[in-house]
Amino acid sequence: MSRSDKYDRVMELARRRGFFWPSYEIYGGVGGFIDYGPAGLALKRKIEDKWRDFFLRRHGFLEIETPIITPQRVFEASGHIESFKDPVTECIVCRRKYRPDHLLSDLGVQNAESMGLTELDDEVRKRDVRCPECGGDLSPTTYTQTMFKTTIGPYADSIGYGRPEAAQGIFVNFRRLHEVSRERFPIGIGQIGHALRNEISPRQGPLRLREFTIMEFEFFFDPEEPKCPYIPEVESMEITILPLRSDTERYAEPARTTIRASIEGRLILMEWMAYFMALSQQFLGELGIPPEKQRFSEKLPAERAHYSAQTFDQEILLDRWGWTEVAGHAYRTSYDLSRHIEYSGVDMRVFRPLEKPVEVEEKRLVPILSSIRREFGEGSSKVLELLNVADPEASERQLLETGSLRLGEFTLNQSHVRIHSTRRRKTGKRLIPHVVEPSFGADRLAYAVMEYAYTIKKDRVILSLPASLTPYRAVILPLVERDTLVEEANRIFRHLVECKLEVYYDAAGSIGRRYARADEIGVPLAVTIDYETLNDGTVTVRERDSWKQLRVHNSRLPKYLQDWPHGDT
Ligand code: GLY
Repeated sequence: MSRSDKYDRVMELARRRGFFWPSYEIYGGVGGFIDYGPAGLALKRKIEDKWRDFFLRRHGFLEIETPIITPQRVFEASGHIESFKDPVTECIVCRRKYRPDHLLSDLGVQNAESMGLTELDDEVRKRDVRCPECGGDLSPTTYTQTMFKTTIGPYADSIGYGRPEAAQGIFVNFRRLHEVSRERFPIGIGQIGHALRNEISPRQGPLRLREFTIMEFEFFFDPEEPKCPYIPEVESMEITILPLRSDTERYAEPARTTIRASIEGRLILMEWMAYFMALSQQFLGELGIPPEKQRFSEKLPAERAHYSAQTFDQEILLDRWGWTEVAGHAYRTSYDLSRHIEYSGVDMRVFRPLEKPVEVEEKRLVPILSSIRREFGEGSSKVLELLNVADPEASERQLLETGSLRLGEFTLNQSHVRIHSTRRRKTGKRLIPHVVEPSFGADRLAYAVMEYAYTIKKDRVILSLPASLTPYRAVILPLVERDTLVEEANRIFRHLVECKLEVYYDAAGSIGRRYARADEIGVPLAVTIDYETLNDGTVTVRERDSWKQLRVHNSRLPKYLQDWPHGDT
């Protein structure tokens, strides 16, 4: 097989065998959307479930589900309205639109993602980059907002956006979830669901979608107690990492390092992040992507999302696309919660008791009600809420340095607020949790799992999926479509379904074609009902990868299927 066509072959298999294909095919398709068929949906659900087991259930983290449509205010607070934008250029002849940074990356330009508009235009001119479709000149680069915009109800002024990440649904619910979990802390909260990004020119099938499934969790912790107790479990694990050499440059060559060394060398700033990166490497390994085909590439400051103090892309090697991001690991600090506290006025700080109470000098913001009411009228109660949650020390500094204090949309000065100092016995502290976030693209992983499982044996395709990911455990096949065999095959099929085994029934075509079909869907076992079955109750079980066959009594079949893979196959 030539290097360049594995992607085509996997995509062709995905379409032919009901994994996934471009949406709205009968109308010519729309870039950036895919539909999942039965096999693909089953595979994606298995990936999602494994993710739940791997990250949420094992740590007792919470899972929630929140809406895709989100009011504008949330994304004003989260910074997405201001920062969630991509550079775009247009062909002045055919009017097609492109990401100039992607065109440059395709030509091998390093770090195009971190370039500003002028730099992108200079580079496009220097390299004489033209429209890939018609060869026309490209327009100067501008930014475009990449969230899908809508109205909530028929009200033009009630603007909503399709969420570009599931994370904000978690942040806005933090206070409630903190209460629901009886104030457990530190804690992780996850969400799996659809997210939308209005990509400018998606060209990579399931690898760059406008609507996709995101699996992410936010881990909330105290930045003054950043130790992760699970590090000893993973400290000797080796990872491949491409760290930053400076703020504008990554090391060209990746380094192998252990988790312990990457923490001690400050390559990874937060222990929890290092722990989740180690788990993520194991997780991808269980999806069939070996560690040597994975690496963690640190993002330059200019490439990082606005909320992140450090980000690693977890990349895997794909046949056509080279190193491709399938997950991101971001240290989001207290950015999101701080902004939601500021914009909503809701106190989402966590109370942490101190081991020993201490005497402290404490500052308090004391509102001067009459002048607040005079100046802010109906907005006064909002101002009071914001004062209640503002950090007194930081507010005092701002007042002293600038003469004013900005709280949400309000600007206060010393006529509105006094700083009051008292000595008191402090029994605990209120803190805004810091957050590390591992975030995975389920569709990219579904594609990658298929590419890694795609095997050719004697000119035939086998999808050698790991046991925990196969869409079906077995296919039930009457040897030929005769009444007595069909009846018995149906009886066995129904019994296996009752035993909660994922099986399907296939009677169409020759037995050889049916085996080949099952191999291509990744079904590990094919169960054939023949005339001997009617005599002695045994069936033929054929194994996907070895093509070995053996007879098993149908009374042992549920356990046999359940326990696959066996040591002897
Ligand atoms: N929450 C991860 C991302 O937006 O990519």
